[in-house]
Amino acid sequence: MIDDYWYKNAIIYSLDLETFMDANGDGVGDFRGLSNRLDYLHGLGVDVIWLAPFQPTPNRDNGYDISDYYGVDPRHGSGGDFAEFMHLANDRGIKVIIDLVINHTSDQHPWFQQAREGEDNPYHDWYVWSKEKPEDAEEGIIFPGVQERTWTYDRKARKYYFHRFYEFQPDLNVDNPAVREELHRVVGYYLSLGVAGFRVDAVPFVLETQRPGGLSDVKIRFEILEDLRQFLSWRRGDAILLGEANVDPKKAKEYFAEGGGLHMMFNFYVNQFLFHALASQDSTALRKALEETRVSVPLAQWGHFLRNHDELDLGRLTEEQRQLVFEHFGPKENMQLYDRGIRRRLAPMLSDRPQIELAYSLMFSLPGTPVMRYGDELGMGDDLSLKERDAVRTPMQWSQEKNGGFSSADNKQLVHPPIGEGPYAYRMLNVEEQMRRDDSLLNWTKRMVRLRKECPEIGYGDWELVKTGQPAVLGIRYRFRGQTVLILHNLSDEPLVVKLDKAPETESRLIDLREVTQYTPEPDGTQLVRLGSYGYRWFRLKAL
Ligand code: NOJ
Repeated sequence: MIDDYWYKNAIIYSLDLETFMDANGDGVGDFRGLSNRLDYLHGLGVDVIWLAPFQPTPNRDNGYDISDYYGVDPRHGSGGDFAEFMHLANDRGIKVIIDLVINHTSDQHPWFQQAREGEDNPYHDWYVWSKEKPEDAEEGIIFPGVQERTWTYDRKARKYYFHRFYEFQPDLNVDNPAVREELHRVVGYYLSLGVAGFRVDAVPFVLETQRPGGLSDVKIRFEILEDLRQFLSWRRGDAILLGEANVDPKKAKEYFAEGGGLHMMFNFYVNQFLFHALASQDSTALRKALEETRVSVPLAQWGHFLRNHDELDLGRLTEEQRQLVFEHFGPKENMQLYDRGIRRRLAPMLSDRPQIELAYSLMFSLPGTPVMRYGDELGMGDDLSLKERDAVRTPMQWSQEKNGGFSSADNKQLVHPPIGEGPYAYRMLNVEEQMRRDDSLLNWTKRMVRLRKECPEIGYGDWELVKTGQPAVLGIRYRFRGQTVLILHNLSDEPLVVKLDKAPETESRLIDLREVTQYTPEPDGTQLVRLGSYGYRWFRLKAL
């Protein structure tokens, strides 16, 4: 049954324990804090929590530098707190997916420490080494301006080791069968603790061939992914792999592997064109991007998002398109990062509430599964005084109390300072205040979450772009089990009227799913729909 694919009609909410809720007052968010806030998430209507890495870590890359796959970082609690959280989440019908960071470990991981001992150590071949300095040691850099190379000399091993990311994140050698077996063990471990799947970090880099001088001729080994998928599905049939793979849309099919690879991938491609559409007030390039990422693999699904915990990566736009997005959403140098992206939260980038609603409504209406980012449901801001991507990782703003209700610790002890000044300060902008106000962004978001879930046509159905004759309008129609949903978005700040073609007999009446407006077709069967500045409308179509 198609409805078995729960991930197709779910709302995913991503959060980092560290900055969500601190129950023990040490300045760092923890499992107990998150457990206490599960009712908030349940009330918001989310179906799935995607938890950023919570394992022991030196924490030099926000936890994406793991030093023990089978533990919980003591700052976040114990294994018992994790199990208790899983129980409480599942009790509320909330599924949990966790990050699976298998491209690399921390350099402090005991495997790497042993690997450094030399070739005789069984862990040596768990990483990728070169005796000589590879000629491409300064190439293939992921964090330009911060990272300097991809091969670093290790004095103890007296060799260079490969690291796609920062130098404290040595790449695991996935060609080694012992490594593959251990990674499966990690997957099996968390499945046995009840997780519903994994957000697989850096997928293309996990699958690429790694050898000195090989960066210009990297091959992607999909068999590694298929192997992982087979293992996962054998252990738990309904568990999913949601891949972080910012790839050329032409390659997407191979990652979905006819249903034998990833179940889901973030649609980074559409994400960039979505921001381009908001900046240019023109849907043309976004429409093209949607068509380019159309998938016909039945189990496959895109994850659509606005912002995440990293920079807004604009690397797949043309130079001209990128400059336009920079100009609108990140004009100052300290808003930009790694020569390709913007390190800002959603709300401060957009002009005002109507445009934020437009962006969110658009994201909820795209063919795929929406992935929200904690705090964006409130319109939280960013802190550009923090380094790199930390600008978008400030603590959740719960109330107007000390530290925004996130922690009772002294401000200096906090993992990141909460936003205390300016229009996004927690004294004005917080959950408590927005809960009480019917017209708050939080309550608006709750209604949109519910609406999206009431339209399974989007997650499960077939879609087509609707001709509106107006570049500023994106129209999309979904059909599923005899039902049709039509959604229109006006990207421009000017109100306009859309003329819809004569609908088929079975779909001639527009039922507005959000407002009380009556629609009657024109005598020739066409239909006029008014859209305000940044206006959006969700319809179900019925026979007259
Ligand atoms: C992608 C993650 O989203 C990012 O935060 C991290 O720095 C890299 N992978 C390395 O793990």
